Amino acid sequence: MTTASQVHARVPVRAEHEYDVLIGTDLLAELPALVGEAARVFLMHPPSLSARAREVAGTLTEAGYQVVTEELPDGEQAKTAETAARCWASLGRAAFTRTDVVIGLGGGATTDLAGFVAATWLRGVRVIQVPTTLLAMVDAAVGGKTGINTAEGKNLVGAFHSPSAVVCDLTWLRMLDAVDLRAGMAEVIKCGFIADPRILELVESDPEAALVPDGPVLTELVERAVRVKAEVVSADLKESSLREVLNYGHTFGHAIELHEGFRWRHGEAVAVGMVFVAELAHRAGLIDAELAERHRHVLDLVGLPTRYRAGTWDALRTAMSRDKKTRGATLRFVVLEGLARPTRLTGPDPALLEASYAAISEGSDDD
Ligand SMILES: NC(=O)c1ccc[n+]([C@@H]2O[C@H](COP(=O)([O-])OP(=O)(O)OC[C@H]3O[C@@H](n4cnc5c(N)ncnc54)[C@H](O)[C@@H]3O)[C@@H](O)[C@H]2O)c1
Repeated sequence: MTTASQVHARVPVRAEHEYDVLIGTDLLAELPALVGEAARVFLMHPPSLSARAREVAGTLTEAGYQVVTEELPDGEQAKTAETAARCWASLGRAAFTRTDVVIGLGGGATTDLAGFVAATWLRGVRVIQVPTTLLAMVDAAVGGKTGINTAEGKNLVGAFHSPSAVVCDLTWLRMLDAVDLRAGMAEVIKCGFIADPRILELVESDPEAALVPDGPVLTELVERAVRVKAEVVSADLKESSLREVLNYGHTFGHAIELHEGFRWRHGEAVAVGMVFVAELAHRAGLIDAELAERHRHVLDLVGLPTRYRAGTWDALRTAMSRDKKTRGATLRFVVLEGLARPTRLTGPDPALLEASYAAISEGSDDD
């Protein structure tokens, strides 16, 4: 017997076309209506979700669709040209037409690849994203950025291709590792600092409840974070100035990821990155010490890191200047000039950068 689906919220995103992000529990039953007119469905998923993918395929088959299931290599390993080519071969064998639908069921790696395959097959077919990690729900699956990695770096090949729907079923989060749930929380908290302070209050008033997979607090947090992303993306589909605010904490975060050879989770690196830019904004006279400290406090409450190894500044500085979002040699950061008031800081004084790094280094007394 299927459990009745409960749609808690529908958040509209206005991109090349308008689509909804559904947030709720047991949303499997919503899928056939979203697939709509198509005859075939190409369902892509990582090995960790094989059993669940069979359930999804069962529901769609019962609804009369021909389902082709593609099990991908796990996580980041899926985001390669080889895997994309394997998917194109399966689509070709299944005689997949322009009116058929791709479904990306999994974390951000899966939704990035599924979006890319959908963007490129027959120059673009519909994709429905079913994100199953917190990071993918509040970030990767919403907004239409798709892509794969090459040997030279992450996300170097891709396309903008908005989904026709995003289904965030919070019951999936029950299976997720606590570490991955926390890492996703960094992006939720980011939305709190750049746009919606109620997110911060919710986490601060009950951090444990905030981490209960399909509890009411996390449900509200996901809805609020999705609304922040949806509003930014609706106002600025392609990555130009407004969308840049979503990169809060990411410039320094990417440098950590690179320096750690991608062994740190993205969210953990972004958490430290946010504390770094908060220290920077404070030193540049943009925010007070209390708001800078609030970053450390709220991230700490959910168990995210707020410090990084000392003695690595030169490597991090070099990595930041190679970041694809850097313009020329000048470093640019998204910073706050108050709570929920993001702005940019271009070419900050190197002494301020070093002092900010010192303040977040392990072993510093700046607690
Ligand atoms: N397109 C965008 O705008 C955007 C934004 C942010 C991140 N991303 C991309 O997202 C990716 C990271 O996403 P991620 O953190 O979700 O990683 P991921 O997709 O690698 O998933 C992490 C792990 O969790 C497993 N998993 C997924 N759902 C699960 C569940 N419900 N229960 C148990 N295990 C589950 C996966 O198999 C994988 O092993 C990166 O490739 C990044 O580049 C894209």
